[in-house]
Amino acid sequence: MSRHATTSTPINPVLAERWSPRSYDTTAVLTPADLTASFEAARWSPSANNSQPWTYLVGFRGDDTFNAILPTLAGWNSAWMPNASAIVIAIAQVADAEGKANPYAAYDLGQSVAHFSVQAHTDGYHVHQVAGTDAAALKEAFNIPEGYEALVAMTVGKLAPASELPEALEERENAPRVRKDLSEVVHYTQF
Ligand SMILES: Cc1cc2nc3c(=O)[nH]c(=O)nc-3n(C[C@H](O)[C@H](O)[C@H](O)COP(=O)(O)O)c2cc1C
Repeated sequence: MSRHATTSTPINPVLAERWSPRSYDTTAVLTPADLTASFEAARWSPSANNSQPWTYLVGFRGDDTFNAILPTLAGWNSAWMPNASAIVIAIAQVADAEGKANPYAAYDLGQSVAHFSVQAHTDGYHVHQVAGTDAAALKEAFNIPEGYEALVAMTVGKLAPASELPEALEERENAPRVRKDLSEVVHYTQF
């Protein structure tokens, strides 16, 4: 089944093809060099006042960082995330050293992650973002300082057939991809 986005007019093919799988090839191995372009894309994302409030923590399957991330994943995510080649924790600096909040930190981190995911897809990898992590446990495990929050984790790797997943997950993997209609989200006069 095609996972391709259905659009009213053609869009950038990478954006149309990108989707969030749960079935990852457990034999695919990534190295830091494989993700350099994706992190460069994330680094060059725009941000409020050019504050660049993002930090990424990266574990590759089998290494200490990856293994320390695994117990912080919510139950429903720990069924499939360990199969990915890498797990990246996306951290936002939500307050400066004086404790002054940056109200755009989460917005800016999300945009940086979007750049990452588009570049990763361009390079042949699939990314799946998840909010289902224990942020407090991540903070403790990785000495994340005051003023910084681990907001999402994302898996990166190579796609495997959906049939390799447990049945319930296989069903979700094959479910149609849906979005609100364009007319619901773009308005030209009033809200
Ligand atoms: C901030 C955020 C949190 C998410 N959390 C989870 C999660 O905990 N578990 C999961 O399986 N997917 C999670 N997702 C993936 C979304 O469910 C997915 O992006 C959405 O259903 C659209 O599917 P698509 O990315 O394939 O287009 C999350 C996505 C985002 C952006």
